[in-house]
Amino acid sequence: MPKSPGGALLHGFSIERDTPVPIYRQLDASLRRLILDGTLAPGRKLPSTRVLAQELGVSRITVKSVYEQLVAEGYALARTGAGTFVSDGLDFETSPKFRLPRHKASPPDVEISERARSIMSSRANMRHGETDPFRPGVPALDLFPVKAWNKYLLDAATGTDRRNLSYGEVNGSAALRASIARHLSDARSMQVDPDQIIITSGAQQAFVLIAFVLLNKGDTVWYENPGHIAGRDVMQIMGSNVAPVPIDDEGMDLNFAIENHPRPTLIFTTPSHQQPLGTTMSLVRRLALLNYAQENGAWIIEDDYDSEFRYRGRPLPALSALDSERRVFYVGTFSKSMFAAIRLGYIVVPPRLVESFAIARNLLGQSSSAVVEQALSRFMDDGRFVEHIRKMRRVYRERRDILFDCLTKDCADSLEPQPTDAGMHMLAWLKNGMDDQAAHLALLSVGIETLPLSVYCIKPLGRSGIVLGFSGTHERRIPKLAERMSKALRSLAPNK
Ligand SMILES: Cc1ncc(COP(=O)(O)O)c(C=O)c1O
Repeated sequence: MPKSPGGALLHGFSIERDTPVPIYRQLDASLRRLILDGTLAPGRKLPSTRVLAQELGVSRITVKSVYEQLVAEGYALARTGAGTFVSDGLDFETSPKFRLPRHKASPPDVEISERARSIMSSRANMRHGETDPFRPGVPALDLFPVKAWNKYLLDAATGTDRRNLSYGEVNGSAALRASIARHLSDARSMQVDPDQIIITSGAQQAFVLIAFVLLNKGDTVWYENPGHIAGRDVMQIMGSNVAPVPIDDEGMDLNFAIENHPRPTLIFTTPSHQQPLGTTMSLVRRLALLNYAQENGAWIIEDDYDSEFRYRGRPLPALSALDSERRVFYVGTFSKSMFAAIRLGYIVVPPRLVESFAIARNLLGQSSSAVVEQALSRFMDDGRFVEHIRKMRRVYRERRDILFDCLTKDCADSLEPQPTDAGMHMLAWLKNGMDDQAAHLALLSVGIETLPLSVYCIKPLGRSGIVLGFSGTHERRIPKLAERMSKALRSLAPNK
């Protein structure tokens, strides 16, 4: 039986010396546990700091500071001249403070909101994690001028203008918006007022904002089928009716959409380089789309994710450059032209909606950093951005050519690669009725990360294919990888 005043208490715990957990932490955790489980009942006096320190063989200052913390958090009360006591109200069994009245109905079984339920079936998280060769959309990260970029970052973070260290401006950095407006004029023939630009943390945040601001539950969104996975899933999560629109040689098949779907609130399209088929929307289709949007009060998202990389002729003007009626939300990203971890993109918003977007951007979490925005603005103004794009265009063109040649030569019995004039990926149709999920898994098992065309689809296409990113895979590796692909795919063929 414990004899000392601290004895009963000391039964409850011990101090261990050969652990990295500091003594005050051990003491603090044990006292809290004893109070919460009722061993130290409400109103009970704690041993004096002197006695407890002596019995545990620890310093009195340690015990004192633990007691003070318990008092500060309401576990204990200090009475001058009398000592430290367990707080009165902490009687979990009987105190009405802990026994609140019950609701009549039992709690619901589900834990996540109805809105969030479809999140579980989203495949959009496949762009995260380690990458293997041919994952679509990955730039040549090893060729990014990291040293130069770090200098811009450092300057932005340590420069004399400490405003960068604050929240920045509601629409995103004015300097970056001006740099982007200049770039859009040079590269995309778009005349944009920097005040129309909202900086986002990438294209995905742009889609979230657009869906949040424009869509009501049940609204129809015409969406390219196949189409960009993460954009589609966020439209669905926002409660809209995502209606698949097939792609023909000229882009989105608008006649099909008019005949088969309700009038849309929003139309999502990738006119410069259809994701993932690679089609470029014809001029006639662009004008028809803009005209339809104007006459029907529909909005358009132009996702211009990889238009910097065009390998024949000059980059084509954006759809937005033809948009005199301001129906288009032009979305740009630096994930492909720079690197995805920069988490910067933007929306060019029709002027009358800019304020709503700026407020939404801030309410939903301003997830881009004013420091990085400032660094990027200088990087662009000094010509480093365009210089990098020019270099990558040469590198990616070579990688595209080698991949196309190797697939044509080595994988002719299983794949039909499609020529592409732009972007960072290529589509290859699968031959002999091969299933694209099976092909994707077989390739993954040999360290090759293509994507099955079916994950881009809301409605099956009736034809299977795989999407191969060429930008992130070194040209020297491609021939061997193509041989490996050929073997893996041959093992799937019915008459192997
Ligand atoms: C069609 C398309 N749009 C946009 C993006 C870029 O998304 P973010 O800017 O959020 O990285 C991607 C990248 O996966 C894409 O494939």
